[in-house]
Amino acid sequence: MTNTESKAMIELHEKIDVPRPVHEAFDYVLDFRSVIEWDATASAASKLTAGAIDVGTRFDVKCELPVGAVTIRYTITRLEPNQTIELHGTCALFEVNDVIHFSETQDGTHIDYRANFTFHKVLSSAEKLAQSGMERMGKASLLGLKSALEDNFPAPKISTGNQRADSLVVPGLALFTKAGFRRGRRRWQPMSAWMGDKHVVITGANSGLGLSVAYRLAELGAELTLVIRNEARAASLIDELRRETGNSRIHVEIADLSLMSEVDRLVQRMIRSDKTIDVLINNAGALFNPRALTAEGLEKSFALLLLSPVKLTLGLKPLLARAETARVINVVSGGMYSQKLNVDELICPEQGYSGSVAYAKAKRALMVTTEQWAQEWADDNIIVNAMHPGWANTPGVENALPGFHKLTRLVLRSPAEGADTINWLAVATEAGKISGKLFLDREPRTTHLMSSTVEDNAEREKLRQFLANFTLEHAQETPRKAS
Ligand SMILES: NC(=O)c1ccc[n+]([C@@H]2O[C@H](COP(=O)([O-])OP(=O)(O)OC[C@H]3O[C@@H](n4cnc5c(N)ncnc54)[C@H](OP(=O)(O)O)[C@@H]3O)[C@@H](O)[C@H]2O)c1
Repeated sequence: MTNTESKAMIELHEKIDVPRPVHEAFDYVLDFRSVIEWDATASAASKLTAGAIDVGTRFDVKCELPVGAVTIRYTITRLEPNQTIELHGTCALFEVNDVIHFSETQDGTHIDYRANFTFHKVLSSAEKLAQSGMERMGKASLLGLKSALEDNFPAPKISTGNQRADSLVVPGLALFTKAGFRRGRRRWQPMSAWMGDKHVVITGANSGLGLSVAYRLAELGAELTLVIRNEARAASLIDELRRETGNSRIHVEIADLSLMSEVDRLVQRMIRSDKTIDVLINNAGALFNPRALTAEGLEKSFALLLLSPVKLTLGLKPLLARAETARVINVVSGGMYSQKLNVDELICPEQGYSGSVAYAKAKRALMVTTEQWAQEWADDNIIVNAMHPGWANTPGVENALPGFHKLTRLVLRSPAEGADTINWLAVATEAGKISGKLFLDREPRTTHLMSSTVEDNAEREKLRQFLANFTLEHAQETPRKAS
């Protein structure tokens, strides 16, 4: 018997119709990591090659099969844009050839999916047994792909388990770790929205969470404007992102966001560029110990963490309002749970200054502002949400809180895990159905773990007035460049 004759083959053939333009369905499947969102057997996926996805791009997909876990190494072997994707997969048990055809229909896209499995000799006797199980799995995975591309998921609600954890405070804090992320992801829905026509502005995009978001959104094809303060990093940041993701629509704006004059100039440049903004991610942040003032005389935590995103967002609002639906994402912190809004103490005095307290006060105020904007801007179709990343292992945490970092580093989230909810708020269709909330792990969460931190309406109104006077007063002081 020859080697070929001893091999067993199974062919699966499934067809689905989805209400999406061909290029959107094609792009979603082409990044084959999406398989973990629609194939119930796939539990992890990674892209092994850098650059734009093309013939030769390789992916590893870990599948939990009845016979055990296997990692399939897929290589794209043929690509006809918006028509055909062919992949060859190999693992310890079998080889598989996937041929996926996309064609336009009146209502969207028809997808024809064939997978030919060739089992290695040792398993060939199990062919008959395997056939019906494989057929069931094939059908289920194409139904998963159909549901992912229909993209019709409801706005998320907090799960009962997380609601209980939050009410008990300590279990709520335990969810800030990577264990919380892993627990959260079990409930997530696929995220197939197309980003190729979206322009996203990300502040603080050169390290930590912001860099991770820049990578992911570049991979998803969004046009990016990255706001960083380090001019020397600009060229290498653009090169790195273009090389790794194949996305050439990446721009950098330089601004020290703790200086209101630079925020103003950034706003002026962006208004002049006249480019609609679909998503603004206010991510830049730092924790300042000891207390320090900016060159403009403002306490740094207040300037960078509160006044700066407020000024930037208000300044860019005309560009946001032009999007069909725009999204503003304010990155706050679980640290805010320790603070009650007290407008008179927002600018922390020298005496008794603590960087962590000043940071938490600013984040609390940004959360309240998020809720206010969400209400006020609903008619402008601007969705405003906040998120906190839990505890993630970033340069920011390592530098500002070395003791905390040392103690917790084994349970800290990766930057990508910390940044996941920022990506979700920027991309997911259902994230556009909810505004004015705080999210962790793609779920709206309480803004108060303790009743003692709940502010009253008078204090919220005072914050609105304070920021309005402050931004106005400062705008008048700031010399403006003639355009
Ligand atoms: N990591 C966590 O566990 C955690 C937890 C809660 C909240 N957060 C929040 O998540 C956000 C991102 O933090 P991260 O952990 O990713 O820290 P990170 O690695 O230090 O990133 C912070 C980013 O903000 C930029 N930035 C700081 N000061 C700036 C300024 N004056 N002008 C312009 N950009 C400035 C930094 O630029 P440079 O590189 O030039 O300094 C950097 O790109 C922050 O808002 C932080 O408060 C993080």
